[in-house]
Amino acid sequence: MAELHGTPPRPALAPSARPDLGGPFPEHIAIIMDGNGRWAEERGLRRVFGHRAGIDSVREITTECARMGVRSLTLYAFSVENWKRPRAEVRYLMRLLRHFLVDERPTLMENGVRMRCIGRLDDLPGEVLGELRRTEELTAANPGMLLRLALSYGSRTELADGVRALVRDVQRGALDPNAIGEETLRGYLYDPGTPDPDLVIRTAGERRLSNFLLWQASYSEIFVSDVCWPEFRRPELLAALRDYARRVRKFGGLINDRPPEPAELQRRAQG
Ligand code: FPP
Repeated sequence: MAELHGTPPRPALAPSARPDLGGPFPEHIAIIMDGNGRWAEERGLRRVFGHRAGIDSVREITTECARMGVRSLTLYAFSVENWKRPRAEVRYLMRLLRHFLVDERPTLMENGVRMRCIGRLDDLPGEVLGELRRTEELTAANPGMLLRLALSYGSRTELADGVRALVRDVQRGALDPNAIGEETLRGYLYDPGTPDPDLVIRTAGERRLSNFLLWQASYSEIFVSDVCWPEFRRPELLAALRDYARRVRKFGGLINDRPPEPAELQRRAQG
């Protein structure tokens, strides 16, 4: 890894590789990567081969998004509920994740991608957490896209963790309960600084959010792709982007309304 410190990151890519889709382009894309198991079973393979094949899609979609000038990409890689899977599958996923965090460093550096993780990261095995922190550190100064891996992540646990921290701040007198508004609560989420996703993509056809970014996705556009994650590549990404470019976003208002600024939301929430 030491030698990678010497790899100069590419400058932030001008979004020249951005396809002209004739409409708005999402700044933040979040993806529920579903269907690895089905993809493998359809081929008479064990489920874990689907997870392994899914890594190639992670690499291709991350690289494509970075080159197109997407600002943030959040990938739902392991949910809090996924710990309930058979031990052998969880062990395999953790091993895959550790390899990913080491093997993908050159690609992340080459594309100027900064990686950060959200979730109950202390639940992860020590050696995974160690590689994760090293990759975060190595890529921290990269000027391009932010790649967020959601690991041991659940939206309800994120809200519970946030509310616990908020109540502690009230108890020690650091926070006035009367001043709590939507934006105060946002400040207690895992990564409050990253804007909400504009587009949430789910692969493998299911139409649900599965405890993913429930707060942040309140006004996200949702695109469901029927293909399983290992087959979700550039053409499927472009189909999602084309669909997004045709959407009219109203944020509960009227056409052409802009989403309210955080300060305005705070004022409204406080009545
Ligand atoms: C859902 O497919 C996918 C997961 C639970 C894990 C996602 C993991 C990867 C894409 C590979 C590892 C990623 C990284 C970043 C290291 P499923 O198993 O629920 O599929 P099924 O619904 O067909 O059973």
